[in-house]
Amino acid sequence: MIITAFNGTHKTGPSNTAIIADAFLQGATEAGARTEQIRLANHKIQPCLACKACWQKTPGKCVIQDDMAALTEKFINSDLVILASPIYTDNVSGLLKVFLDRLITTGDPHWEFDEHGESRHCRRHPKPTRLVAVSNCGYPEQTHFDVLRLFFRRLCRNMHLELAGEIYRGAGGLLAGIVPEFSEHIDRYLNLVKQAGRETAKTGRISAELQQALEAPLIPLPDFNRIFLNKVNQLADGLPAGN
Ligand SMILES: Cc1cc2nc3c(=O)[nH]c(=O)nc-3n(C[C@H](O)[C@H](O)[C@H](O)COP(=O)(O)O)c2cc1C
Repeated sequence: MIITAFNGTHKTGPSNTAIIADAFLQGATEAGARTEQIRLANHKIQPCLACKACWQKTPGKCVIQDDMAALTEKFINSDLVILASPIYTDNVSGLLKVFLDRLITTGDPHWEFDEHGESRHCRRHPKPTRLVAVSNCGYPEQTHFDVLRLFFRRLCRNMHLELAGEIYRGAGGLLAGIVPEFSEHIDRYLNLVKQAGRETAKTGRISAELQQALEAPLIPLPDFNRIFLNKVNQLADGLPAGN
């Protein structure tokens, strides 16, 4: 199985989204998948011009000369794709959205009806067939992913993909291990993510049990508020972050 993760963080350096994607891909690699993580911020990706040349004049090809042709090849040669993004203003990053808009070249201009009678474009390529959504955000509650939960369902319907799993992590700022006292919690969580990668490479999806375990709080909320919230607020006040 070929699994490619497209990480939409705007950072080119350390990324909390990348920590989750790395753990997942490590598990998938252990289970025999061929894996790669692509950082979109390292590529030139211009916004779609909405010219629709890719549907009529140059079917399947975009007129913009940038890195999207190579990235689209990676996308359509994958069995399963991971779309990974930090939460930016309650949604996926602008960069991931620009990337997704440019994937319009992978659609066929003809319309069809899905199993519920709702319109969508036919697909042009047989692959990918599955998607795993990955995200993290600064705030600790899992409700900050409400928009993404709906968005990725709609996207999968639109793009003919099975939603094979969702890995959403509140309090994602902790994943880099900046609070040593939480390291056991972080290790336990990243092991679950690795397990999700192994499971997906073996069975094609994350099991319901593991999906539920992945949604549990990273650390108890009172501990988060006691330690992390104080650090954040001290930094916002321009003070050195103590405990
Ligand atoms: C422009 C911008 C908007 C953000 N909006 C939110 C938000 O609405 N909710 C939230 O919990 N975190 C928000 N964050 C915080 C990021 O989701 C968080 O720092 C995340 O860990 C970054 O992941 P990364 O290191 O992979 O970029 C925002 C960050 C940025 C830069």
